[in-house]
Order: sequence, then C-alpha cells, then structure tokens
Amino acid sequence: MNTETLMSIALEMAGLDEVPGDSAVHHPGQDIHRVLVGIDLRAPELALAKTLGFDAVLTHHPVGIATLNFHRVLSRHVDQMVAAGVPEAVARAAIEETAEARRVLDSMSNYDHDPSIARLLDMPYLNVHTPLDEMGRRRLAEVAAGVSPDGTVGDLVERFQSAFVEFRSSATRIEVLVGRRTHRLGRVLVSHAAGTNGGYAVGKAYFEHGIDTLVYIHCRPDDAQRLESEFGGSKSLVVTGHIASDSVGINPYVDRLRREGLDVVTASGVLPSAEAR
Ligand SMILES: [Fe+2]
Ligand SMILES: [Fe+2]
Repeated sequence: MNTETLMSIALEMAGLDEVPGDSAVHHPGQDIHRVLVGIDLRAPELALAKTLGFDAVLTHHPVGIATLNFHRVLSRHVDQMVAAGVPEAVARAAIEETAEARRVLDSMSNYDHDPSIARLLDMPYLNVHTPLDEMGRRRLAEVAAGVSPDGTVGDLVERFQSAFVEFRSSATRIEVLVGRRTHRLGRVLVSHAAGTNGGYAVGKAYFEHGIDTLVYIHCRPDDAQRLESEFGGSKSLVVTGHIASDSVGINPYVDRLRREGLDVVTASGVLPSAEAR
C-alpha cells in the first residue's frame, strides 16, 4: 500500500473524481502496512507514530497545503443548497463572505509546520477530509430519509442514535439547537461534507427555501441563537456532534483499509464502530 492508494480508496468510496482542496498527501510513502488514523494527528503525533513503529499517519482535519486550500471546499455548500432547491444566487451569497474570510484567515497559518516534521522523520503523511465527511453525510442522509416527514424531530434524533453506535458511545449528545423535539420533522436536509458547517447564512437559506429540519454536525452558539430567534417557532436544527459524526464517516474507510490487509490503529477521537463486548 502507498499514500496515493490510501487517498484514491477514499475518493472512490466517496464517489469523488479529484482530490478536494482540503485533502492532500503531505509526504508520500510506499510499503505501508501499519497506519495510525486519527482526527487531529499533527507534528507530535508524527514523532509518536515513528516511536511506535507505524509506516504512515493519516489524519482527518486539514493540515499543510490543505489548510490554504480549505476555503475551496466551502463551494460544496452551494452544490448542496442548489440540489435542495435553493436558488443559485441565494446559495452563492450565503457562502461568499465566510469563504473569503476563511481564505484570508487560513493564509495567515504556518501551513508547512506539520508536513516539514513528516519530511524530517520521513513519515508518510496525508490528510483526508471531505471524502470521509462525504461518506458520513451519505450515511446520515440515508437514515434521515427513512423517517416519516409526519414524525417529529425527536424521532429523527432517536433514529440516528439507534443507527450509529458512534452516537451511543459519544460523550456528546445529539442536540436540537433550533426549534424543538416535538416539531413536525417535515423536509430534512443533512448539511455536511462542505468544509465546515454553514452557520447562520446557510441555515437561513435552507429554512427560507423549503427545509423544515436541518442537520449540522456542529454549529457555533451565536449562529444557532440567531436561527432560533428567526425560525425556531416552526423550523429545527439538529446538531449531531462533531467527533461522533466525523467517526461515522471515518469508520467505513477504516473497515475498508483493514479488509485491504492494513493494520490500522485509531486515535485522536475516532469512536469505535462496534459496541464493546
Ligand atoms: Fe469531518
Ligand atoms: Fe471535523
């Protein structure tokens, strides 16, 4: 196994034909048998992986050049909104400001810090963000599609909990940050795998264009409060939890790598995909 194949397996599983801006191979390598997989594995963990005898480190969140190009994947919000019936001009306007702010903020980062340590240690290193989130988004959307629109928001929360061990084993709970559990579920949309959550502007665009229940994996409290005060009487925002939801996307990939014969060890937040016996 090599780093290129590790990336292409993720792309294939997510149905993507190119490496998104928020993912990259930072230090290539061959002959990989033991991989350390985690949500945030950076310079110190690269040194740890070397000490523990791993052949490669695969992290989820963007590092290196993927930090600088992160803002590009925010345009996936536009695709998701348009697919859900939001007019394209409204969708673009909803993300424009956030994307530009992110680009400028990320351009301030010391982007080569972690890759430079990988090179010094000669530790193969990559980060796979959107492809794994896309797998998570599909799994969540599939479960959400199985709940009747005439049911309640609470029914959706329960269905998520029963479908995914990651939610049952997480130290965070699925929360309803806008609206309430007794609201009619109506039309549901899972907004995920677009870099980060869409915040207030994307939520508003969905709520004003036919979505009754929106699912984010995380949401800043100020965004949730604004949405609550404007839409909370009839609409709902379900927040499934960052690390548990990232794990829902990461686990099918980890299972696949194990089927490919790799020895995969998870750390840095990845919740187990099976109930402890
Ligand atoms: Fe993620
Ligand atoms: Fe994440």
